[in-house]
Amino acid sequence: MKLLLGIETSCDDTSLAIYDLDHNELKWHKSFSQEFIMAKWGGVVPEIAARNHVEKLTHLFQSALSSNDIQSSDFNYIAVTSLPGLLGPLLTGMNLAKSLSLINQTPIIPVNHLYAHLEAIHLTESISYPYLGLLVSGGHSSFFIVKSSQDFEYLGGTIDDAAGEAFDKGGKLIGLEYPSGKIIDDLAKDGDKSRYEFPIGLKAQDTCNLSYSGLKTALRVFLDKNPGIEKSNELSNVAASYQEAIVEALKLKTKKALKISGKLPIVVGGGVACNSRLREVLTKNFQDVHFVSPQFCTDNAAMIANYGRLNLDLAISYPQSLELDAQSRYSKSL
Ligand code: KG4
Ligand code: ZN
Repeated sequence: MKLLLGIETSCDDTSLAIYDLDHNELKWHKSFSQEFIMAKWGGVVPEIAARNHVEKLTHLFQSALSSNDIQSSDFNYIAVTSLPGLLGPLLTGMNLAKSLSLINQTPIIPVNHLYAHLEAIHLTESISYPYLGLLVSGGHSSFFIVKSSQDFEYLGGTIDDAAGEAFDKGGKLIGLEYPSGKIIDDLAKDGDKSRYEFPIGLKAQDTCNLSYSGLKTALRVFLDKNPGIEKSNELSNVAASYQEAIVEALKLKTKKALKISGKLPIVVGGGVACNSRLREVLTKNFQDVHFVSPQFCTDNAAMIANYGRLNLDLAISYPQSLELDAQSRYSKSL
């Protein structure tokens, strides 16, 4: 049996996955989320994230072996996130990959985390290239024409905060826990989205660039003018109206991106792709739109293993695999 191990540690999720290359299926995947740890700090603290990866990776790896009744020498390939991400956290995953490569001479496939987010669509659907990729996560909001799993043409994206950051920073302002995206999504279901009007960044600009910093400031000003509103029963209306501005911006800029790319199927991935209002609005407004399955939207190793199995030709054989550094490959398009 040919097996590929996927490793993801670029931010605050410690995650491993095993892909069965013979049967072409995801065999196993497991994650440890540090969200409840980072909630105390109101965001991700890189040093704490890295220390938790070190602690959790060994247990997860043991679980990967025992749950599947295999040994570390049974992996034919190791796919690992090599960029982008927080350097300390990235290094923990890279070091596991390099240690295994050293012990078993296993080739390593370095994976661009952003590409993996969008290509995760292939875990559940078969989509042909080219497609328009919209990546909306905690760190990125970008449009790409995806011509193949290695050929991503950047069309535009955020010039300041990412969509996930807009959710998380806005949530912090209204007193919600980190990460706030899912909490705002849930609150908004009971709210009136047209109760308040929040601005849409770069609305008049004829590009698919996005800006969310003005929205965050607008919320701050709104809260100053309406003290205590976030503690009243208006909270769900504020959440729904704020979310609507984030989603409307993504709808508007998807239209612009399609104008640049020409008619293409759309693939939406990344943590914010879980958002129920975004799914509703994009599905209603565009014809051929596909969302990565929610279980593979937020950071996970299944998408890394999936990217690896689609790109076995990127494998670096031992001993060159030991020279691989976090952040060293495929940086041109970031
Ligand atoms: O993809 P991801 O795990 O991290 C990065 O690669 O950056 O995405 C995490 C982001 C967080 O900002 C979180 O608030 C957001 O995804 N998120 C959501 C939802 N679920 C997660 N945002 C809006 N609605 C959701 N349901
Ligand atoms: Zn991510």
